[in-house]
Parts: sequence; C-alpha cells; structure tokens
Amino acid sequence: MLILLILSLDLGFCSWGYNLDTGVGAFRYIVSPRQSTLLSESPSFFGYSFKIIKNGTETSFIIGAPKAITFTNGNESCAPDLKATGDLLECPVSNLFASTPANPTCNSRNPPGTQRGDAFGQSVDLSPDGNLLACSPGKLQCCSSAVYLPGYCYNEDNHNRSWMEDVKSSQNHCLSIQLDLMFVLDGSESVTISNFELVKNWTIDVASSFDIGSGLTKIGVIQYSHYWEELGSSDTIQTYIKTEIPLGSIKSQAKFAAQVRKIRYHQFSTFTAHAINKTIRDFQNSARWNDANTRKVIILLTDGRSSDFEYLPYSAA
Ligand SMILES: *[C@@H]1O[C@H](CO)[C@@H](O)[C@H](O)[C@H]1NC(C)=O
Ligand SMILES: *[C@@H]1O[C@H](CO)[C@@H](O)[C@H](O)[C@H]1NC(C)=O
Ligand SMILES: *[C@@H]1O[C@H](CO)[C@@H](O)[C@H](O)[C@H]1NC(C)=O
Ligand SMILES: *[C@@H]1O[C@H](CO)[C@@H](O)[C@H](O)[C@H]1NC(C)=O
Ligand SMILES: *[C@@H]1O[C@H](CO)[C@@H](O)[C@H](O)[C@H]1NC(C)=O
Repeated sequence: MLILLILSLDLGFCSWGYNLDTGVGAFRYIVSPRQSTLLSESPSFFGYSFKIIKNGTETSFIIGAPKAITFTNGNESCAPDLKATGDLLECPVSNLFASTPANPTCNSRNPPGTQRGDAFGQSVDLSPDGNLLACSPGKLQCCSSAVYLPGYCYNEDNHNRSWMEDVKSSQNHCLSIQLDLMFVLDGSESVTISNFELVKNWTIDVASSFDIGSGLTKIGVIQYSHYWEELGSSDTIQTYIKTEIPLGSIKSQAKFAAQVRKIRYHQFSTFTAHAINKTIRDFQNSARWNDANTRKVIILLTDGRSSDFEYLPYSAA
C-alpha cells in the first residue's frame, strides 16, 4: 500500500487547524476526532506532529494536536488561563479509507496527568527500537507561588503503550526552600511595655505566614537586653540574652503564639552585639547549620542605639 501524506494547514473556515490529506486529487482528510467539541474553541492543530508506527501487523498514525483541549486527569488549578492540554492520538490506518472524509477511530495516547498548558503533541519521535518519545516543551511546573517552564519528555516503555517520564524530566522537582528564622527582640527599657507587646504581636503575625508544621521553616525567638561583662560569657549565666523559644522547638502556630505572648519583658539595657553573637551560636548548634539548602535569617527588632554599639560591626560581620 502506498500512502501519500501531505500535511496541510487548513486556512479555510473550518477551524480545526492542521489536517492530514490521505488522498491524491480528492478531498479526503483525517480530521481531528475531537472537532465537534472544539468548534467553539481555537483549532486543535491536529497534525502538528506525525509518525507512523507498527504494532504487529497493524499500522497506525500517531498524530499530535497540541492545541486540543482535553480534560483527562488535568491539574486545572495550576494554570487556569492556559487552556490547551494538547493531545497525541493513535489512529489505526485500517479504517482510514472507509469514508470521505476519512473518519478514523483515534485513541488519545496522552501520558497520565496531562495538564493545561502542556500543549502535548507538539513533537513525537520514534526510537530505533520503535518506542515513542514525545515532549511537551512548555510544560508548566507550579511550585507554590512560582511557576516554572521546565518542559517534559515522555518515553514509551517497552511498546506497552504506557508512558514514563524521561530520566532528565523526572529530575525537575520544585526546590524545597528550607528556612531557619530567628526573631531577636530588643527587651530594653526604652522600648516600653506597650511597644514590646506590639513587637510580640508583629512576631506572631510574621511567623504565621510560614509553614512550621512540616519543618520546612523552623523559627525561634531570642529576647535580649543586658550583658554582665564581669560574669563571663557563659550563656547560662547571661540570662538577659535569652533564647525564649529554641529554633524549631515549636511546630504549631497556636503554640508559638501562646509562647511568644508569655515572654516577659526584661526592661533593661541594650547589648545588641552580644545578642547577635548569641543568635549565631544558637544557629551553629542547630540541626541545619551545615545544610546548604537551608537559609538562615535573623530578624532583629530594636528601637535604636545599643549599649555595646562599639562591638556591632564585628558581630554583624
Ligand atoms: C497491539 O496489538 C495487539 C494485538 O493485536 C493488541 O492487543 C494491542 O492492544 C495493540 N496495542 C495498541 C496500543 O493498539
Ligand atoms: C496541582 O497544582 C497545585 C497548585 O500549584 C499543586 O499544589 C498541586 O500539587 C498540583 N497537583 C498535582 C496532582 O500535580
Ligand atoms: C508497562 O509500563 C509500565 C509503566 O512503565 C511498567 O510498570 C510495566 O512493567 C510495563 N509492562 C510491560 C509488560 O512491559
Ligand atoms: C496583641 O494581640 C492581642 C491578640 O490579638 C491583642 O489582644 C492585643 O491588643 C495586641 N496588643 C497590641 C499592643 O496591639
Ligand atoms: C562576636 O563574635 C565575633 C566573632 O567571633 C567577635 O569578634 C566579637 O568580639 C563578638 N562580639 C561580642 C560583643 O562578643
């Protein structure tokens, strides 16, 4: 059997985009089996990519329709404004010439989890041993508030018509951004009780936006005021530079808020440089100090000039 295939972009009033012309000198098209559901939408670009495959004695066309809209297992929440999931259809040749226009039975061959914006069917290829490889160069990946376009490819596994993510694509994961966050609160006299309450509320408020339940973010609180120069540097003696909540010790927002509200205002002096060093020591003793994937952040809330300001440049460095 000789088949002459002409890929032609249909620019006429019919809106289903690319077609495959299966006749010579006659108007015989394979049209997208989904045309009826697509008439009110843009063209599906059926025929954008194309391959012939054999399964035993059966020959089929694999036809991509990257602008098709399908709703199989889609992740609609990811990109609601990008509609096209795309489609890759397998149309057996045996029933192609039965009618004019040809009316093939085509089965969708999309991988599981096709989602809006994938435009699957833009490319399809055959490996030397006859397995299909199809890519979705514009596939989206939603990572909380950020959206990436890593692209994905799928390999057919052992002719069994099920798709596997290709090895490179499967390495595209959302970066898990771990955060260790210490609030360092100025408990000096000049802050005043009412402002100290405001600072506590602000701390609770800021902390509430982090996921502390899963441990992705760990938070802690230090209150500082006075440093007894004459008593030596031991943290157990220097009780006015105090870890009120050890980093990562609380995993519930309600408990964290309750614990912050219980913090008793020192109302003393302002040894900011010593407090920064103590905070760094807390970090150094914490579980994720050496973990490069964990960002360490100090939020220092102070009303101004410190009693040990001459040390500050060294401590902050
Ligand atoms: C391939 O052919 C076999 C035997 O005819 C059939 O059982 C199988 O479903 C076919 N596979 C596909 C994907 O059509
Ligand atoms: C779908 O997208 C949402 C939002 O980005 C994401 O949280 C969720 O994990 C995704 N679900 C699947 C099954 O991919
Ligand atoms: C078909 O593909 C699936 C998914 O990759 C795989 O788990 C399964 O073993 C394959 N089956 C055969 C018969 O190769
Ligand atoms: C702090 O928050 C608590 C509980 O929401 C509220 O009752 C209190 O008035 C707030 N304090 C200040 C100083 O805003
Ligand atoms: C803080 O630590 C730095 C570095 O170890 C040190 O040079 C500095 O003197 C310390 N500051 C105070 C106030 O102890």
